Amino acid sequence: MNKQAVLWEPSPNNLEPFWMGFTPNRAFKKRPRMIARAKDMHYYDMGGRAILDGSAGLWCSNAGHCRDHIVSAIQKSAAELDFAPTFQYGHPKVFELASRLTTMAPGDLNYAFFCNSGSEAADTALKIALAYHRANGQASRTRLIGRERGYHGVNFGGISVGGMVANRKWFGAMLAGVDHLPHTYNRKEQAFTKGEPDWGVHLADELERLVALHDASTIAAVIVEPMAGSTGVLPPPKGYLKRLREICDKHGILLIFDEVITGFGRLGHAFAAERFDVIPDLLTFAKGVTSGTVPMGGVMARQHIYDKFMTGPDHVIELFHGYTYTGHPIAAAAGVATMDVYRDENLFERARKLEHVWADAAFTLKGNPMVEDIRTIGLVAAIDIKPVDGQPGLRAYKAMENAFHDFGFMIRITADTIALSPPLIISENQIDEMFTDKLPKVLQSVA
Ligand SMILES: Cc1ncc(COP(=O)(O)O)c(C=O)c1O
Repeated sequence: MNKQAVLWEPSPNNLEPFWMGFTPNRAFKKRPRMIARAKDMHYYDMGGRAILDGSAGLWCSNAGHCRDHIVSAIQKSAAELDFAPTFQYGHPKVFELASRLTTMAPGDLNYAFFCNSGSEAADTALKIALAYHRANGQASRTRLIGRERGYHGVNFGGISVGGMVANRKWFGAMLAGVDHLPHTYNRKEQAFTKGEPDWGVHLADELERLVALHDASTIAAVIVEPMAGSTGVLPPPKGYLKRLREICDKHGILLIFDEVITGFGRLGHAFAAERFDVIPDLLTFAKGVTSGTVPMGGVMARQHIYDKFMTGPDHVIELFHGYTYTGHPIAAAAGVATMDVYRDENLFERARKLEHVWADAAFTLKGNPMVEDIRTIGLVAAIDIKPVDGQPGLRAYKAMENAFHDFGFMIRITADTIALSPPLIISENQIDEMFTDKLPKVLQSVA
C-alpha cells in the first residue's frame, strides 16, 4: 500500500504499528488489555468495566487517577504557557516546584535538576557525580558502582550500573569501568519478612572489597535503590544503607539513592532517605513527582555538590547537561499541584499508617500453595509464586492476564513475582478486596 496516499485518511484501529516496550507484543496483540479511562483507584476498560489499580499504573500514580486539582493545573498551564526554555531562560512554576521539593527533602538536598523520566534521572545523577569529582580536582574518580538486581532505567548509564541481566545482555559492552555490589536477597534467611530483613547488613561491606580491588581514587559513586523495586521488591536489610553511607564517607565516594519508586510516600515518607535516616549526596526522583500525569524526573543534590560547580566566571555555564524539556511548564505545574494533593490529604502519613494493615493483609496469602515468599514494606508487597517447571515467568504472566480479564485487577509482574504498589489513597476495604478476594482467585486460576 502507498502510505503517502492514505497519510491523512482516518486510520484503521490497527494494533500492529505500535512497537510496545517491555511487553510481549504478539501475546498482547492477540488478547489486548486496553484501558480507556481512569478515576481515583480504578482504571476502566473500553466497555466501562472497572479495574482496581494494584500498581499505581507503573508505580507512579501515587495520588490516584485524574485528581481534579492536578487536572485543572495541567489544563491551566497548557492554555497559559505551553513551552518555555529553561536553558538561559526560566518560568515561575519550575522554580516553585524546585523549592517545594527541596523543602520536602531531608538534610541539605537543597537543589533540584529536572529531566523527563527516571532513566534520564539516573543518567543525570551519574554524570553529576563524575563532573563533581573532576571539578573537585579528582578526575581519576570515574568508576561507577551499581548493584546486582538493581534497576536504574534503560539508558546506557542506567543499564551499565543496573543489574538485571535481560536489560543488559542485548546491548553490548555498555559503559566501561563499572562494578556491582551483590544484591541483598536471600530467601533462606529472609523469607516472609515484613519491612527490613534482619539478615544482610554485612553485604554492604562488599563495598570495602571493591575499594580494595579498584582503589578509592578510581571510584566516583555508588548508586542503589533504597528498596530495589523492579527486580521483585527487595527491602534493604536493617542497617545496610547506613553502612553503605559510612563506607562511602570513609573513601570520598558519592552515594546516590535512586528514589524513582520510593519517592513521594511509597514507603510512608516523602523519601526513603528520611525513612532510613540516611542522606545520599544525590537523590533521583520521577514517577510520583507528577503522580504520573506528565512525564518528569529529576535529581536533588546536596549543598556541597552544587557549591563545587559554582566557581569560575559568572557568565560561564557550570554544568553542560540538560534536556529541551527540562522543567517543562506543564510538568512543573502538574508537579506543584501533585505536591498540594500529597500535603492536603496527608498521603505520606496515610501510607505510613496503613503499612501494618497492608502487610497483615498481604500475609493472609502465606500458606497458599502457590506462594513461595511474601515481602512487604510501606505500601509495597511482593508475592513470589511457584514457577512452572522449565518456563519461568509463564505463571505470573497468566496471572496478570487473568487478573485483568477475569477479576478486574491490575497487577505488576516481574519474572514470577507479583508486585503490588497501589495509589496511596487506597482504602482499607480495597486492601482487603485485593488480598482476600481478588488475589486468591487469581492464584487459583493459575494453579
Ligand atoms: C528505581 C528506578 N529507576 C529508574 C527507573 C526508570 O524510570 P523511567 O521508566 O521513567 O525511565 C525506574 C522505573 O521503574 C525505577 O524503578
